[in-house]
Amino acid sequence: MKKPIIKTEKLTKIYNLPAEKIKAIRDIDLEIFPGDFIAIMGPSGSGKTTLLDSLGCLAKITSGKLTIMEKDVSYANENTLVSMRRKFLGFVFQDFLLIPSLTALENVELPLYFSRKIVNKRHSIELLNKVGLGHRINHLPTQLSGGEKQRVAIARALVISPKILFADEPTGNLDTKTGKEIFQILQGLNQKDGLTVVLTTHNNELGSQATRIIYLRDGVIVSKEESSLIPA
Ligand SMILES: Nc1ncnc2c1ncn2[C@@H]1O[C@H](COP(=O)(O)OP(=O)(O)O)[C@@H](O)[C@H]1O
Ligand SMILES: [Mg+2]
Repeated sequence: MKKPIIKTEKLTKIYNLPAEKIKAIRDIDLEIFPGDFIAIMGPSGSGKTTLLDSLGCLAKITSGKLTIMEKDVSYANENTLVSMRRKFLGFVFQDFLLIPSLTALENVELPLYFSRKIVNKRHSIELLNKVGLGHRINHLPTQLSGGEKQRVAIARALVISPKILFADEPTGNLDTKTGKEIFQILQGLNQKDGLTVVLTTHNNELGSQATRIIYLRDGVIVSKEESSLIPA
């Protein structure tokens, strides 16, 4: 039997604000397997980003258990979480988060400096080629379209050869056609390279192409039937 690459047990994250406690996700039980392509869906505020950030070691959990690649990281310190991210986890965000003063190529290479890995220009260019941006390697983010920026962001996420790629609304800032193209790149990475992909999306058409959809509502996992009772 395949072992899960991510496993959660009663995973819960509470934001402690001065005036209130917000239970953003509660009692999440999940098993994600190598090669899965998971879409986390649900209305705004249902906890999608919080769940993704927790799984991606970007946020500390409040209670429950989180195991990534068989390592219990539930209450790991910041250094361990950083190390997990730098070695194994790639991230893509809705608003690309490129460094404006760096070229496409330099943006792609950036994680290697943080990870103290050898910078291999040829590999970075290969990755830009792979996402269809080989002809724009010396462009600055301001000289790129939204779809092109997201391609750079995907190449940047891939540069460390991650085991899991997380993407938070990767098509959220893109028009329908460009969004589809970006989604297809992520699908290709999953289908051709076997990369495990976990993303959030509001887009039913794209989400329905995932191997599994996790529906959230008010911070808990609900069934497809329950999810359809509420507007996105
Ligand atoms: N940093 C934060 N501090 C306090 N509350 C937050 C924070 N981030 C998210 N929340 C709250 O947690 C809940 C889930 O938010 P989020 O995970 O961003 O949902 P989604 O991505 O589905 O829109 C919401 O009620 C939101 O207001
Ligand atoms: Mg969100």
